[in-house]
Amino acid sequence: MSQSTVTTTHSQLATYLAELERKDLLRFITCGSVDDGKSTLIGRLLFESQQLYDDQMDALKKDSAKVGTRGGDIDFALLVDGLAAEREQGITIDVAYRFFTTQRRKFIVADTPGHEQYTRNMATGASTADLAVILVDARKGLLVQTRRHSYIVSLLGIRRVVLAINKMDLVGYDQEVYTAITVDYQMLAERLGIESVVAIPVSAVNGDNVVSASVAMPWYTGPTLLQHLETVPVGQRETDEPFRMPVQWVNRPHQDFRGFAGTIASGAVRPGDRLRVQPSGRVSSVARIVTADGDVSLADAGCSVTLVLADEVDVSRGDVLTTHDRPLECADQFEATVIWMSEAPLLQGRQYLLKSATRTVSATVMPVKYKVNVNTLEHIPAERLELNDIGVCEIECDRAMAFAAYTQNRTLGAFILIDRLTHDTVGAGLFHFALRRSQNIHWQAIDVDRSVRAAQKRQRGCVLWLTGLSGAGKSTIANLVDRKLVAMGRHTYVLDGDNVRHGLNKDLGFTAQDRVENIRRVAEVAKLMADAGLITLVSFISPFQSERQMARELMSPGEFFEVYVDAPLAVAESRDPKGLYQKARRGDLRNFTGIDSPYEAPLAAEIRIDTTSLTPADAAEQIVDYLDRAGMLVSG
Ligand code: ADX
Repeated sequence: MSQSTVTTTHSQLATYLAELERKDLLRFITCGSVDDGKSTLIGRLLFESQQLYDDQMDALKKDSAKVGTRGGDIDFALLVDGLAAEREQGITIDVAYRFFTTQRRKFIVADTPGHEQYTRNMATGASTADLAVILVDARKGLLVQTRRHSYIVSLLGIRRVVLAINKMDLVGYDQEVYTAITVDYQMLAERLGIESVVAIPVSAVNGDNVVSASVAMPWYTGPTLLQHLETVPVGQRETDEPFRMPVQWVNRPHQDFRGFAGTIASGAVRPGDRLRVQPSGRVSSVARIVTADGDVSLADAGCSVTLVLADEVDVSRGDVLTTHDRPLECADQFEATVIWMSEAPLLQGRQYLLKSATRTVSATVMPVKYKVNVNTLEHIPAERLELNDIGVCEIECDRAMAFAAYTQNRTLGAFILIDRLTHDTVGAGLFHFALRRSQNIHWQAIDVDRSVRAAQKRQRGCVLWLTGLSGAGKSTIANLVDRKLVAMGRHTYVLDGDNVRHGLNKDLGFTAQDRVENIRRVAEVAKLMADAGLITLVSFISPFQSERQMARELMSPGEFFEVYVDAPLAVAESRDPKGLYQKARRGDLRNFTGIDSPYEAPLAAEIRIDTTSLTPADAAEQIVDYLDRAGMLVSG
């Protein structure tokens, strides 16, 4: 290759890249049910917009001959359904993002499964999309899943829909079929607040109206799918909004530089702009805007920048920098929509981690107000959310955070819920508005504090948390420990599951969510008692790790002792002091721990009592010794 050719190639490449950079980007999602022909449609789009490389084309031809369903013709669905599992099952099982580009525009398409159980994948794909292509089969018209897809699309703030009425070849390219479906869909769109619907009759298999106009449907004069995707306005919303940037990290390479790095969620920023740090409320102005290409005089939504402020204000990861005169609202209680994505249900009262933009807080859902039947849009009363359920909930966080309604800002209005133990993402949510429940309630300072109360009793207030199966011996051991301590002149109290369930918790049963609430309440009571300076014995099955962890975190460090009263199920069952195991085995008692309700054994309890080798008296002695060694019994 000669020198000049190389130069030309370089400059061509540079021109190409520059053009690519300049072209705007449309992100869209495709939704359809398993056999609406969605993968074929995307495959056809990629193929006809000449986005396939030769090797991909060869592989496609080979695959089509081998496993294709199109009798020797190219099966475009194979291009898209890349996963082996999909080929076997004939369904798409995850979100796949594909990039393609035409003369006019760049595209990122999120292809999501249509199968009912995959609401979560669809929500994932839709959260960044500007537009949705919803496929229907011309022979079937609107189906339950069309409603579901449209609802999720509208929920996630997508205002533009292309209704691709596919398989027109199978209805003889009949205009009346097209019109009837279009009219039906308009009604649905109105109800959901979808602003723009463009209905396009297509045949993905034959290519009609996908890239070039169909000769078989001269009655259709609108754009082809690709023409529409190339010309539909791309939302510029974010740049017109007030400036907001969640701080991703504080960049402090040396003493003389301190910058706040993040991606601008909305608006624009210039040196000299007055900014507010939220939630603290402090104000400063922008000294520099540093980017990978050096300092700039303007940056807007989507840009990743490091801002240097003029003053030494306190800013940490998770804070949001906003225009000083149009700040965000800060709150710790919200109404929100939650899309549940985990096999284990969402339980009201359980603590999860809530991550919104770059901030993570601890949060409890309390209560679930209702769930939405995504097929009929009906509201159904509910206490928990199961996999793929969508519900409206009230959420309580342990700290205030700056937020926006999702309809205002898709970055600051969205959050995910994370399981505290597994760190899995279990839900996705959209903020509606702040609740004012605790707005007028302030913490009241009391002069006699916990240390004074403890000193008066010559001990330290603490919690001994006994957990284990019913019949393991918790109450017996708690009772003995209590007697020993009182005999030593200590001040104690026993909170026993059976007893507390006679009073404070008599409204609760034994479903998972009732147990979560049972433990939440008793943990709060135990905290008050420890505050009062008492050695507090809690004797509850407390079967879930998550709630025991929550109880631990409520107490001061070093003042919570988990005691695992360990008896194998067979042993507890053979003791059966209340005859409840027998009842459960007969099927006369539902949700019985160890039988048809789980017990999650502690992984790191301070004390483990092996009840198969220790007598209750030995166990009690071991616990009292432990308390002594931990310094709880020192005379003050
Ligand atoms: S917890 O699971 O919510 O912590 P808790 O300790 O309050 O349970 O109550 C357990 C006691 O309730 C048991 O000792 C038993 O006497 C009684 N009980 C009645 N029904 C059940 C049930 N389905 N599962 C477990 N315990 C039950």
